[in-house]
Amino acid sequence: MENTLLAVQGLHKSYGDMHAVDGVSFDVRRGEIFGLLGPNGAGKTTIISMLTGLLKPDSGSVSFDGHDFRPSNRALQAKIGLVPQELALYPPLSARDNLVFFGRIYGLKGQRLRQRVAAVLEIVGLTERANDAIETYSGGMKRRVNLAVGLLHEPELLFLDEPTVGVDPQARNAILETLETLNRAGTTIFYTTHYMEEAQRLCHRVVIIDHGQIIALDTPRALIDSLGSGIIRLKVPDNAFESLTRQARRLAMIKTVSRQDSRVIVKTNDAPAALIGLLGIVNRLDIPITALEILEPNLETVFLQLTGKALRD
Ligand SMILES: Nc1ncnc2c1ncn2[C@@H]1O[C@H](COP(=O)(O)OP(=O)(O)O)[C@@H](O)[C@H]1O
Ligand SMILES: [Mg+2]
Repeated sequence: MENTLLAVQGLHKSYGDMHAVDGVSFDVRRGEIFGLLGPNGAGKTTIISMLTGLLKPDSGSVSFDGHDFRPSNRALQAKIGLVPQELALYPPLSARDNLVFFGRIYGLKGQRLRQRVAAVLEIVGLTERANDAIETYSGGMKRRVNLAVGLLHEPELLFLDEPTVGVDPQARNAILETLETLNRAGTTIFYTTHYMEEAQRLCHRVVIIDHGQIIALDTPRALIDSLGSGIIRLKVPDNAFESLTRQARRLAMIKTVSRQDSRVIVKTNDAPAALIGLLGIVNRLDIPITALEILEPNLETVFLQLTGKALRD
């Protein structure tokens, strides 16, 4: 597709017997913010490391702008940027000196280097503090410098690996706003996170992974709409499951009824009406309920619905 910037086909990576990334394929479109959402240990860092040439896949292919992606291809490397999960900064140096250092590694020098350092400091909002040592910065400010490093050479595609872990809500917001601004100016963004609210707010499309495999890929809206208007979870005794399910399926506002361990999962078009209907059935059949939850339609619930477990750590 003409619109495709990054095409990923059948990516695999194992550590010993463990399939960290187990046959992952997707396309990232030019100009989008593409999210890779999954819990800790799902394989996000392993995927991003293979896409940026830090780690060699066991099998699979990655192409960038129609060309086979090889880490040795300097021209392609120059078009991508990486903001790693771990901070890679020199604490005794100022933000400006850190940026100058990394800029030289990227091959920038002279006037152009000075211009880019000033520009990225401005983008991440650290111009005023640029000459202070990194060790005097808050966690959120350090994360912003980390982001600035990834922007120095003006990449077409910027990869970010959980750039908001451990920062306060205000700093997180500053980072997300910066990314939205960069994206509006044309940068394609590949964003990994285990925070569903971030993926929901920021990303045009999201791929959800678990145990190294893709379990869903779509716009956040479409993923959430697939839930209907919400999910009701009930815990009832095992011997009540059959009769409750049979009667619940007759209710118009109920889309599906399924079972996950000891819980009945009811997808609905209209959660409040479905709840009233379900409680009517429960009363008629005289079923004891030991737990009842109404889940919001959001990406967290999508994940729960697909895997039976929570995304949060
Ligand atoms: N160098 C490594 N050696 C062995 N196992 C690893 C290594 N790196 C990652 N893993 C394992 O691979 C899985 C995926 O890890 P990772 O890609 O870091 O997940 P995420 O970034 O989503 O938290 C995890 O089970 C992790 O323990
Ligand atoms: Mg990770």
